[in-house]
Amino acid sequence: MNSRPLQFGTLALAVVLGSSGALPPDKPHASLPPAKEASAPSFAKDVAPFLTKHCHSCHGGGKNRGDLTLDKYQDEQAIVKDREVWENVIEMVRTGEMPPKAKGRLRPTPSEADLATQAIDDMLDRFDCTGPRNDGSVTIRRLNRTEYNNTIRDLVGVDFKPAADFPNDDVGYGFDNIGDVLSLSPLLLEKYLAAAESVLERAIVISDPTKPAKERLSSLRASFGAGGARRGGGLFLNGKGQISGQIYVDEGDYTIRAEVFGQQVGDQPVRASLRVNGDVLKEFAVTATQSAPATIEATVRLKAGTRTIAVAFLNPDTEPGKPGEEPKKPEPVPQKPDSPFRPVDPDKHQRLLFVRTIMLDGPYNPRRRSCQRPTNG
Ligand code: HEC
Repeated sequence: MNSRPLQFGTLALAVVLGSSGALPPDKPHASLPPAKEASAPSFAKDVAPFLTKHCHSCHGGGKNRGDLTLDKYQDEQAIVKDREVWENVIEMVRTGEMPPKAKGRLRPTPSEADLATQAIDDMLDRFDCTGPRNDGSVTIRRLNRTEYNNTIRDLVGVDFKPAADFPNDDVGYGFDNIGDVLSLSPLLLEKYLAAAESVLERAIVISDPTKPAKERLSSLRASFGAGGARRGGGLFLNGKGQISGQIYVDEGDYTIRAEVFGQQVGDQPVRASLRVNGDVLKEFAVTATQSAPATIEATVRLKAGTRTIAVAFLNPDTEPGKPGEEPKKPEPVPQKPDSPFRPVDPDKHQRLLFVRTIMLDGPYNPRRRSCQRPTNG
């Protein structure tokens, strides 16, 4: 058997045991002072005479108007036992409904009525606090199906009703969200575990890193001072430097492709290299011009991590100045009449490398993943 549900059940059980174990031991309630004997109401003195005088004519001596017999109560204990009856009695007397008003019938004075009702009230208020203390129990609540669906939606943002195949919630008093009524069957526990797994499967989306894809590097930049952005897209280099972008890769074989062309000047074509983190993969003679850009490409195996992919310009025709010297201004490169590399713009006699895009295609032959789900038990 898969041991996970067992562990879960054990845990839940531990919680149940833990909470009942945490109840304080039964002991007398110490915080309430015992009632003071002096002010304790007395049935014989404060209540009985009042009842005899005003009530027993209808609720005693065999008469039980309104199905109420009052002369069977002979002491405080009897009153406390029939709390509801006596709360009603207090109510009737305080509102003046009992005894019924009638011509010639004696009515209790307000102080008589006060004394009697207060005495009964005090008797009902005096609890026997010496018995074992019962703190009741705290129900460990569970969510019903609707609550579960809504909670999952709010918590992890997936909205697919994971509780749809849970057993029906127990209903009590017409409600399906009463903690004491909602039970947790072994079947439901299994459904919980299955739901948790499918919820997380939907919530955590990992694109398969082993699936090759072509990705275009965004936010390319040129080495400082060696070039810049070209009107109409892409970047250019006019000095020694590179155009690069960064990308996170998983381990595997990649083909790096760059769309390039040159402003051809002098008697040699633009020369460029593809680099990863500064390592040269391959060098190219870029004979292409603006009207028909070329794609240079190289294949390399990369380890997982963030890599800087770059196209470097190897032969600008202006050497950067030596330290202490003024950097040389770009000079027109003498154009041999038979040179195949005509400048794109005859006015600009400067060799330039243009990079339109850099693409990464991979990973192929990805590393075998060793993160198989561990088997339980
Ligand atoms: C003259 C007769 C008479 C006297 C005196 C009388 N009662 Fe009643 N009592 C009735 C009758 C009749 C009913 C039933 C009324 C009804 O069902 O509407 C009743 C009903 C009640 C009820 C029940 C009310 C209910 O909720 O149904 C209480 C409690 C009660 N009386 C308390 C008293 C008390 C306390 C006294 C004395 C202070 C008293 N009565 C005096 C005639 C009397």
